[in-house]
Amino acid sequence: MMDVGRHPRINLLTYSEIEDISGYIGNFHVTVRKKARYVDEDACNACGECELVCPVVAPDEFQQGFSTRKAIYMPFPQAVPSVYILNDADCLGHNPIACGKCAEVCEKNCIDFDMEDELIQLDVGTVVVATGMDVYDPTEMDEYGYTRFENVVTSMEFERLISAGGPTEGHFVRPTDRRTPQRIGFIQCVGSRSLGSKGNPYCSNICCMNTVKDSLLLKDHYPETEITVFYMDIRAFGKGFEDLFLRSKQAGVHYIRGLPGEIFEDPKTKNLTLIVEDTVEGTIKDYEFDLIVLSVGVIPRRDSNVVQKLLTLSRTEDGFFMESHPKLKPVDAPTGGVFFAGCAESPKDVKDSVTQASAAAARAQILMNTGEISVEAITSVCREELCTSCGICVKVCPFNAIRGADAKAKTPAEIIEAMCKGCGTCAAECNFNAIMMKHFEDAQILAMVDAMLEEKPLEKIVVFACNWCSYAGADLAGLSRLQYPHSQRIIRTMCSGRVDSEFILHAFEKGAPIVLVSGCHFADCHYIDANRWTQKRVEKLWDKLERMGIRPERLQLEWISAAEGQKWAKTMRELEEMRQQVTREEVEFTMRVLREAREKAEAKKRKKAAARVGPQPKRTTSLEAMA
Ligand code: FES
Repeated sequence: MMDVGRHPRINLLTYSEIEDISGYIGNFHVTVRKKARYVDEDACNACGECELVCPVVAPDEFQQGFSTRKAIYMPFPQAVPSVYILNDADCLGHNPIACGKCAEVCEKNCIDFDMEDELIQLDVGTVVVATGMDVYDPTEMDEYGYTRFENVVTSMEFERLISAGGPTEGHFVRPTDRRTPQRIGFIQCVGSRSLGSKGNPYCSNICCMNTVKDSLLLKDHYPETEITVFYMDIRAFGKGFEDLFLRSKQAGVHYIRGLPGEIFEDPKTKNLTLIVEDTVEGTIKDYEFDLIVLSVGVIPRRDSNVVQKLLTLSRTEDGFFMESHPKLKPVDAPTGGVFFAGCAESPKDVKDSVTQASAAAARAQILMNTGEISVEAITSVCREELCTSCGICVKVCPFNAIRGADAKAKTPAEIIEAMCKGCGTCAAECNFNAIMMKHFEDAQILAMVDAMLEEKPLEKIVVFACNWCSYAGADLAGLSRLQYPHSQRIIRTMCSGRVDSEFILHAFEKGAPIVLVSGCHFADCHYIDANRWTQKRVEKLWDKLERMGIRPERLQLEWISAAEGQKWAKTMRELEEMRQQVTREEVEFTMRVLREAREKAEAKKRKKAAARVGPQPKRTTSLEAMA
């Protein structure tokens, strides 16, 4: 951090927040709010005189509340820049000045009570999101008595208690009586790998090795301490980690595979009793401790949604930011020019964070050095002569890549090619065929439907599968040699969001007994939330089909991931059973109803067009026919 602060080409803005980000790859415009710290950064020499005279006492957040700080304070040792900060929420009042003692003693006149927040405008080409993580709050786990029993602490609090820079200057004592605990218990996976209503289902990655490290530290400083670790599994993968784990065992740390039940406190001695089910022996035992450490998991930053909105990012079900591709683009965000570093993307240790940060910096550097970007030739194009400026495309674009469509000003939609990722949702939602997706044009996809249903349509199942998940899932099913019926015919689109209602109705009109739309699970869509529009579209179609007397079950929607080859095969087997129940009469009825509706709408449209001056739509869609 010191190196960063000193670097001539790094502009470090601390105590600042991003207020707004607009623009796109290569052209981001960022507004930063630099909050008033009421201390002149350039003049302050961190003498600490102000802190000595400040009469306010507040809990020190950095020391996890184990010690106190003043209203004017150094945020933490080795803070960069090494400058004091005045917390206006804690200050007795500086507007009007009610105390002012800090200003009186400051020889350099650094205190400026009139300082205001500053808005800084920056133009940048790339953005690295390194917002870090928060830790799980175990208060909701009543059984552990956290906050009820003072001698139950979290691993974060333990770090402060044993740190040389901590409130006890590294003298490890327990909170109730300030004596060095002799029997210490660690409970692993608190808030992690939990399938119940409390905690999170994912593994936090760092807790096992953190406990192993802590146990070695304790054994080093206090060799007589009895340490017991209760764990589900010790996950010691990674270079040197297994070694460290073995060293900890050799040092005398007891590892018990067990499920901790409840903690009780002796009101007199403040000692703790932990009830544990030993899952190896199959017995329930009691253990006595002086102090228990809850090894808490990590969670996404609680304000991640702010950054998510600013940069139109997507998040996984766990709440961490989702990368563009887990294997091929692990540091890229789906939004062009945005990269991830550290726990913003998933829980990681220091080594992995440094690796990812280096990769993110390199990715950003490559982009900026090149000075230009190449986009894939699958972006959308607006045919202005057909655009009615309705603005639907602007609303559905997950990347905010469309602007300009304004019904009042009668300006057509404008697609920013550098921002368009080619999901095709805009093309699918446009009711006027004004938006076309290159290489996945309506005519191309309809021609594929025609070709696959040209012969024996009753024996076919038309499948629209997204490129990233479902198509890959089908691939995996094939590679794994899973057995399933061969009646499916797949049309690949980049995202399920591209599947226009028109394609589905066209397939039914051409005699398809069953149509399946398949894409990534929610939060896995590679185009942020484009598949939410798929769901809405299919739900609308179910209603419309029902109104027309067509069984809606013949249109199926399934979310299948790239790893779910088994699910793909199972779905295909089930669909085949459904297909066999669809009768020839039912299909012929569907074809007739849809054809008649389309012809009727076409006639209506021709009549309207004849009376209208101006550009004419090229073709009538089945969807319009149904309207
Ligand atoms: Fe698979 Fe969007 S990429 S549904």
